[in-house]
Amino acid sequence: MTGAGDIRFVKVLIAVNGIVPLAMLGWDWNQGNLGANPIEFILSTTGYLTLIFLLLSLAVTPLRKMTGRNELIRFRRLVGLLAFFYGCVHLITYSIFDKSLDLSAIVSDVWERPFIALGMSALGIMLPLAITSTNGWIKRLGGKRWQKLHRLVYLAGIFAVLHFWLIQKSDFSWPIVGVLVLAALLIYRVWAKFAPKAGASAKA
Ligand code: HEM
Repeated sequence: MTGAGDIRFVKVLIAVNGIVPLAMLGWDWNQGNLGANPIEFILSTTGYLTLIFLLLSLAVTPLRKMTGRNELIRFRRLVGLLAFFYGCVHLITYSIFDKSLDLSAIVSDVWERPFIALGMSALGIMLPLAITSTNGWIKRLGGKRWQKLHRLVYLAGIFAVLHFWLIQKSDFSWPIVGVLVLAALLIYRVWAKFAPKAGASAKA
């Protein structure tokens, strides 16, 4: 798969599939199928979707390097934007249904509840990354600076996993999965950065 048409087709496929969970959520809400507490269900589902797409976007580069399929990089921006999109739906759900759009209640929540502060920080980091994800911004910032800025996505990942962890009261199995996946991706990234250099200096 190298043709521009193929890439475009896969992008459309990812975008359509990425939106399906939201469509299903909307449909089930409309049908009254979201259980006793629909808002809690929507908040939880959009939170999971944000985290899944965020971790998937972080997995693209390791996958590309391990498989040698360089075209995978062409889908990273879209997956990252899906993460940001679900993060926004998550925040909007919280702001409207949990806080009735009361800005001062939201600010004091950020101040008083560390898991809210962490969620806000994760999404706050993702905002400039989403804005600068276009080719125009890559040119404007220059490749090196753009890459440095976009490394902040790992910090967003750390904040997001901590946010998820702090919400749990008893069952930590999914947050543990989140921590392990994020740790594996971070360790791979550090290893990929230093391993080739270590190999080269050993040869020298
Ligand atoms: C990258 C950003 C974020 C990610 C990945 C994320 C992830 C999650 C996940 C996975 C859950 C589900 C937890 C569960 O049901 O076990 C959740 C719940 C929640 N999130 Fe987020 N979140 C993010 C940002 C935010 C923001 C910006 C806010 C609001 C300011 C927020 C507020 C909440 C609330 C209120 C809950 C429900 C907590 C509860 O059930 O008691 N999150 N989030």
